[in-house]
Amino acid sequence: MNKRVVQFYMLTMTTLRWARSLQLTLAVIKPDAVAHPIISEAVHQKILDNSFLIIRRKELEWKAADSQKFYCEHKGRFFYQRLVEFMSSGPMQAYILAHEDAIHLWRNLMGPTKVFRARITAPDSVRGSLGLTDTRNTTHGSDSFESACREISFFFPEFNISHWYQEQEPFYRAGPVSYDEEKLEHRLVKV
Ligand code: RTP
Ligand code: MG
Repeated sequence: MNKRVVQFYMLTMTTLRWARSLQLTLAVIKPDAVAHPIISEAVHQKILDNSFLIIRRKELEWKAADSQKFYCEHKGRFFYQRLVEFMSSGPMQAYILAHEDAIHLWRNLMGPTKVFRARITAPDSVRGSLGLTDTRNTTHGSDSFESACREISFFFPEFNISHWYQEQEPFYRAGPVSYDEEKLEHRLVKV
């Protein structure tokens, strides 16, 4: 079978009909996890298993200046320097995810910030099961609607958030949506 035919069959169709509006959040797989494909793939699978829609996904690497800008709210904290160096130490994978109550759901799946606490209180969470240290804690997630908008624009400046909510959200909510195994993103299916 030729490659295109195989790819066509690998597209998984999902029919969705959420009752409530979808919300967007920013999720990032941090450099500690991207350095180990088994870990980043496990996080990606967790995203799919929890029926998030992957609206956009990209791999990118920060310079120290990007890291300082993104984490300016933590400037002066004891972990700031370590955090800034870590977040510009290698490639990351950034996602725009959609789901009902996506911000809360993703943060809940990540578990507590501190890995050693996460291992005890939420062992099945992403950080509890895959995190390495309190700094190298596998993933990031926006903590409010305002942060999600700011952070999505930081990682995906080309993405128009208000356009998505106004024009795309009703279609993603109603489905059908397909999962592109090659791009690792969901797509609207024209019916
Ligand atoms: P994130 O922003 O990455 O989703 O994490 P968060 O909201 O759960 O935690 P936040 O307080 O915003 O901290 C941002 C990141 O800083 C690092 N950190 N290290 N060594 C420490 O005690 C410590 N505390 C925070 C972590 O990488 C954390 O995710
Ligand atoms: Mg935070």
